[in-house]
Amino acid sequence: MKLVINNNEHEVDVAPDMPLLWVLRDELNIKGPKFGCGIAMCGACTVHLNGHPIRSCSFPVSAVNGNITTIEGLGSESSLHAVQKAWLEHQVAQCGYCQSGQIMSAAALLEKNPSPSDQDIDTAMSGNLCRCGTYPRIKAAIKSAATSIHESELEITQHDSVEEV
Ligand code: FES
Ligand code: FES
Repeated sequence: MKLVINNNEHEVDVAPDMPLLWVLRDELNIKGPKFGCGIAMCGACTVHLNGHPIRSCSFPVSAVNGNITTIEGLGSESSLHAVQKAWLEHQVAQCGYCQSGQIMSAAALLEKNPSPSDQDIDTAMSGNLCRCGTYPRIKAAIKSAATSIHESELEITQHDSVEEV
């Protein structure tokens, strides 16, 4: 079976009903997505399928029909995603175990809704649990990331208008 993960093509020889999380971690050594509950209840294993958040612990690899992005492919060391930058700025992580799932859910939310309300954030993040209780910092970081995405879009628009003049 061929999979495109973080823009790289991989070939794996696994049972079709193997959960994607097992393929990522055990077959391909992509360890960012974590195993928490194994029953789609905690969000620790969240990755993107074509930009949408999915729980990879409960997603059979044979059902993958597009590009997978994990935390390893969200940004790069030299160019972090706005959500990753905001996470650092707000020092969100405590033990860190849930955080790659939290970041992937937050990034998918902002892709779909760049100006989320408190209610939107609560709804989008409700499936991601954190035993360390970092929820207030997660919310603050999502708001910061939304502001910084908005500001960089404004800069691009202003830059384009200056170029046109
Ligand atoms: S490990 Fe997948 S949702 Fe908990
Ligand atoms: S930071 Fe420890 S579980 Fe979330």
